[in-house]
Parts: sequence; structure tokens; C-alpha cells
Amino acid sequence: MGEHKTSTPTPHNSARLGEIAKTVLMPGDPLRAKMIAETFLEGAKLVNNVRDVQGYTGTYDGVPVSVMASGMGMPSMGIYSYELYNFYDVDNIIRVGTAGSFHKDVKVRDVVLAEGACTDSNYAAQYALPGTFSPIASYKLLSAAASVAEEMGVRFHVGNVVSSDRFYNDVENSLDWAKMGVLAVEMEAAALYMNAARAGKHALAICTVSDHLVTGEDTTVEERQSSFTAMMEIALRVAAKMGR
Ligand code: HPA
Repeated sequence: MGEHKTSTPTPHNSARLGEIAKTVLMPGDPLRAKMIAETFLEGAKLVNNVRDVQGYTGTYDGVPVSVMASGMGMPSMGIYSYELYNFYDVDNIIRVGTAGSFHKDVKVRDVVLAEGACTDSNYAAQYALPGTFSPIASYKLLSAAASVAEEMGVRFHVGNVVSSDRFYNDVENSLDWAKMGVLAVEMEAAALYMNAARAGKHALAICTVSDHLVTGEDTTVEERQSSFTAMMEIALRVAAKMGR
């Protein structure tokens, strides 16, 4: 088994041990991380800036919370979340991103709590299991997020997503996942869930639906912003609950 030396800083993260909170919110986009830190966190301090993947730590409702981008796709999410769980003693990672809907009832701007994450990636091969692995969300984070979303009156769905290695497919057959009840496609949750499982930690992916692969419906920049704010508020309230 490949055990890695748990040393910080790492080649991808210049934060020192203790500078990252127990709960980390991960958008895909580094600029989003900066915006979240500036808009929602109190006393946010830049703790990582390697490759402009800005990581910030501040507080929300008095609870320490960090926010750092995952980048796009499973290899990138795989690196950052592995280091956070295994080198920085992080307990909870909440991905906050976007997804494309497969399902007529899952509309643009709705929130999807990814209970499970199917994948077309080979990420699980590293565990050499005698079968397929089902990457799932942490029930602790999932149930907290569902209660918060309900309290807030946000339109949300709980179910499977598919984490794809490709945004552009030579043969467009991603909709086949819909016949198995999969709600939406994104590109990071499965790697996050597998890293959490392997480390004995907690993960949840919360996505807002930015586009619809069946109806072709799309969101404007402004709409994206307001549903993003709702998703952020769910994630931050869950993070605050984890700190108590
Ligand atoms: N594919 C993959 N990831 C996505 C999509 C998509 O259509 N929309 C938002 N994230």
C-alpha cells in the first residue's frame, strides 16, 4: 500500500498544519473561493496561494471554516482533498459546485445534494477491490444539509449524480445514466467521496444546476449567482453545525 509522508506544506498547498479549519468548502473555481471568503467569512486570511488556488480560513457564525478551490475534474479534486484529509487533519469537505441536469424535475437553479456519485473514471482502481465501490456522501453532512435546505425553503433534490472525466464527449451517451435514476452530471464528487472513505472522513457535494442536458435550459450569470448564494448558505450553515 502506498503510504505518503504526511508533511506540510505540500507541493500544492503552502498552508501550515493548523492553518486550515476542520471543515473546508471547495468550489471548483479559485476566484469563487476568494469571493466566498470575502463575502461570507469573518476575518478571512489567505493560507494557500500555490498555482493561484487560493485557500482562506476565517469564521462563520463563530466557527472556523476554510474555503479552497478543487480545480476542475477528479485528478485535481483528488490531490487537494487527499492532502486536506490526510496531511491537514481536515474532517469535513463540502464541495460547492455546478452540475448539468438529466432529469425533468431537476430544474436549472435547483440544488442537488449528491447522496451517491457514480463515475466513468478509473479512480477506484487504486484500491484494488474485488468488485465495484459505491462512493457515497457522509450521512452526517447530508442529513444536516437536507434540514438546512428545508428550513431555508430552497428547492432541492437528494440522489445520485455521475462524476465524469469528460465535459466534451466524442459520443454523447451520458444521458444513459438517467435510466438508472441519476439526476445530474458534474466532475469531482466521486473522487472526493472515495478520498473521504479511504481516510475515514466526511464529504458532501452540493451542486446547483447550471444547465439542463434534456431541455437545453440554461442560466444567466445573475441567476447562477443567486442560486450559488443559496447553495453557499446551506454549506456554511452545515459547516457551522459541524463546529458545535
Ligand atoms: N457536464 C459536466 N459537468 C458539469 C456540467 C456538464 O454538463 N454542467 C455543470 N457541470
